[in-house]
Amino acid sequence: MQIAIDGPASAGKSTIAKLVAKKLGYVYCDTGAMYRTVTLMALRSNVAPDDAVKVTALLPQLELKFVPTADGQLVYMNGEDVSLAIRQEDVTNNVSAVSAIPAVRTDLTQRQRDIAAEGNIVMDGRDIGTTVLPHAELKVFMVASVAERARRRFLDNKEKGIDVSIATLEEEIAARDHKDSTRATSPLRQADDAILLDTTSMTIDEVVAKIMALHAERER
Ligand code: CDP
Ligand code: CDP
Repeated sequence: MQIAIDGPASAGKSTIAKLVAKKLGYVYCDTGAMYRTVTLMALRSNVAPDDAVKVTALLPQLELKFVPTADGQLVYMNGEDVSLAIRQEDVTNNVSAVSAIPAVRTDLTQRQRDIAAEGNIVMDGRDIGTTVLPHAELKVFMVASVAERARRRFLDNKEKGIDVSIATLEEEIAARDHKDSTRATSPLRQADDAILLDTTSMTIDEVVAKIMALHAERER
């Protein structure tokens, strides 16, 4: 069984996908973390995130590994734990440029399909239902208002000691939504057979319960 969860930034995809995977005993794959890792590699190599030729040249040197933990997973880039580094603001603000490069998408899509080929999976991202796993049995397109998503990210940041105003976060989220939905290759888009789930006024538990119910329907 494949569960694809797509949607814009901070809609709750990874939080929910992680919990659903845990409940079902499925593997969880955070494809955003993969795009973030390539972005980190580019920034560290002093390669401009929109330099398609130079970013693409880095890919053969990238060994990307997920290691599951009790409450999620760690991300390793060439043996280094980069789980925290890939969440920094400079990566967040440059990841849409890197993810618009077609060769990056081709490379990471293949890596994502290889992970999915190993068994039951919950995968979250932007193009899972449309491109990576078009035959997924359950596809969810998760959305929430920009204001609510900025509020969620603000609370997340506060826990990590990062101080960015809600107004700035709203701008950043809207800008990333725009870039992700208007790029030429695999833009953020709801698959025709995906179920739209607006989580603006839903708790995490409610969203998890909804997806578990949809999954149970498909198993019957
Ligand atoms: O967690 P957050 O919502 O900030 O984003 P993410 O899921 O970590 O994804 C970071 C970025 O990677 C997105 O803004 C997209 O530009 C890109 N991405 C993508 O293009 N395709 C995917 N399947 C997943 C992420
Ligand atoms: O993966 P994505 O960027 O879509 O979102 P996330 O990182 O899973 O969620 C962003 C934040 O929203 C997390 O701190 C979640 O705890 C929170 N959240 C929430 O408050 N209510 C929901 N229904 C879903 C997520």
